[in-house]
Amino acid sequence: MRFALPAPPPDRAKPRIIALANQKGGVGKTTTAINLATVLAGGHKVLLIDLDPQGNASTGLGIDRAERGAGSYALLVDGRPLEELLRPTPVPNLHLVPADSDLAGAEVELVALEDRERRLRAALAADPALIAGFDYVLLDCPPSLGLLTLNALVAAHSVLVPLQTEFFALEGVSQITQTIERVRRALNPALALEGILLTMYDRRNNLSELVAQDVRGFFKDKVFETVIPRNIRISEAPSHGLPVSLYDARSPGAQAYAALGAEVLRRQQRA
Ligand SMILES: Nc1ncnc2c1ncn2[C@@H]1O[C@H](COP(=O)(O)OP(=O)(O)OP(=O)(O)O)[C@@H](O)[C@H]1O
Ligand SMILES: [Mg+2]
Repeated sequence: MRFALPAPPPDRAKPRIIALANQKGGVGKTTTAINLATVLAGGHKVLLIDLDPQGNASTGLGIDRAERGAGSYALLVDGRPLEELLRPTPVPNLHLVPADSDLAGAEVELVALEDRERRLRAALAADPALIAGFDYVLLDCPPSLGLLTLNALVAAHSVLVPLQTEFFALEGVSQITQTIERVRRALNPALALEGILLTMYDRRNNLSELVAQDVRGFFKDKVFETVIPRNIRISEAPSHGLPVSLYDARSPGAQAYAALGAEVLRRQQRA
């Protein structure tokens, strides 16, 4: 499904690099990375970098473990050029740097390397012509605040924090906001909060609405208006190696992610 989306303002730094981060597991980071990347690719050139050793973003875009080859580990640890690591996906205009099988070791190996928090930033800066060909780079982070996530926060312009709409939603969110603050002070002063995204919202459950109000009360306009509903099609799509918009374009999940893409672009024009 293609979406008519407004072009980003030309005077903006290109590409815009957005990290999907939350140390809490299973909140919708990867789902949002895949589906937001897909929607943005409807009108822009997009790169998704899978920084999670679980490799769910790679699998979800149809690149199975066995055929992954070199990816983000080679980029971060071995210093392999980005150009050699780009892979096409089933989505036109969306490229992927997959998680290679060695990525699980990266948290430990990075510790010993020079500029260990800046490896990704340096790797992206190493080929300015290639990177300038992309409008958006999305970074899918693992559920921890270790060196992989830190590399993403140092390389990014902004962070998008998915938050599962459940009772303990706000618990633990201070960890990621404090980390963003720390990265701003020490490593990346310009790092912005792209927004908080409420995910897995259940309309039939009053608690979901209460939690949503709570989160909006706390983060105000930093919370995206778009809310991602709990939708079975969203969870089925990755096993087919497809984003939800290609799996079932008419599903509420696909429509919600289309709305999110439009909102991200709208907000960027206002900023
Ligand atoms: N809106 C939704 N409706 C239904 N299922 C969803 C939705 N969003 C995500 N899921 C499912 O919930 C699980 C966790 O989502 P996802 O993998 O995106 O979270 P994550 O934050 O990347 O997890 P991890 O921290 O392990 O990387 C997955 O099985 C996914 O398919
Ligand atoms: Mg994930």
